[in-house]
Amino acid sequence: RRYSRITGTGSYLPPRRVTNADLVAELAQSGIQTSDEWIVERTGIRARHFAAPDVTSSDLALEAARKALEAAGCQPQDIDLIIVATSTPDMVFPSTACILQNKLGANGCPAFDVQAVCSGFVYALTVADAMIQSGAARRALVVGAEVFSRILDFKDRTTCVLFGDGAGAVVLEASETPGILASELHADGRYVDILCVPGGVSGGEVLGHPLLKMDGQAVFKLAVGVLDKAARATLAKANLTDADIDWLIPHQANIRIMQSTARKLKLSMDKVVVTVDQHGNTSAASIPLALDHAVRTGQVQKGETLLLEGVGGGFTWGAVLLKL
Ligand code: ACO
Repeated sequence: RRYSRITGTGSYLPPRRVTNADLVAELAQSGIQTSDEWIVERTGIRARHFAAPDVTSSDLALEAARKALEAAGCQPQDIDLIIVATSTPDMVFPSTACILQNKLGANGCPAFDVQAVCSGFVYALTVADAMIQSGAARRALVVGAEVFSRILDFKDRTTCVLFGDGAGAVVLEASETPGILASELHADGRYVDILCVPGGVSGGEVLGHPLLKMDGQAVFKLAVGVLDKAARATLAKANLTDADIDWLIPHQANIRIMQSTARKLKLSMDKVVVTVDQHGNTSAASIPLALDHAVRTGQVQKGETLLLEGVGGGFTWGAVLLKL
């Protein structure tokens, strides 16, 4: 059997770091009241990064991809598949993956975007794994990249304090040993309205609301239940139990969602990679950003068993269990 294995990780945060105190001061100028205490207590977020106005998802993706390629010891032309998970693409079309491909100089290979909001990276990784297993690709670049600051409503304090910009990438290669052990993807379109950017482009105008709207409590309740089920399903497929998980690398939306999922899996928080405090919620970028951070700080080691899990708009959710 042919497997796929992560051989390099990389990530990139735009240089402008905005602490809660900075954001509180900025929002106060337009009469919006919030506080560091509220944000930390409800979300665990202390800072996030925002890209400069002329910087796009593909720019962030390019930096993260270069680092992942370097870590994997390969060149752009060695890549034969590019998948970018993003909900904040550079353009309506072509895909951010095509724009990234050209910036990288990896022209020729298939390149496309996956749109599953905060579950985008687990979706993209699962698709790349399937294409490698089938023989359609040998060495894939899988990226999560977002500029969520562009779609935030800075008059809505219940959402604008939660998100940040950034990108993370992995190189996924064909291997005789696993690698990715199991994955599980789901969506339930009945919940489109609880987390969405409902606007669209038509006739040269933006129709509808072009900024993020969220029913935070509905998202919270749904997220905790579905993540546990997806995690258990991947463990069952791989014939493993929760005791076999060395590290949980969840989508970094909110520390309380992460604590609840860890509790359900009987994992202590020191088995959970946490970057939400410094990155905020970077949607599809959050898992590869957290993974790269954990790899580069030596927190996770080669050979360890990782459970990645994502949940987000759609409603979408999924998990990938893998050996690093
Ligand atoms: N600063 C100060 N006060 C605030 C703020 C803020 N930024 N935002 C809301 N409040 C106030 C509300 O107005 C409300 O005041 P009231 O009681 O006087 O009406 C009070 O705080 C409580 O509001 P709730 O919405 O009930 O707060 P809750 O405890 O549910 O926390 C939160 C809100 C953090 C959004 C929570 O629901 C949550 O974590 N939801 C999960 C959603 C999430 O993480 N989404 C990320 C995107 S989806 C994903 O990635 C999975």
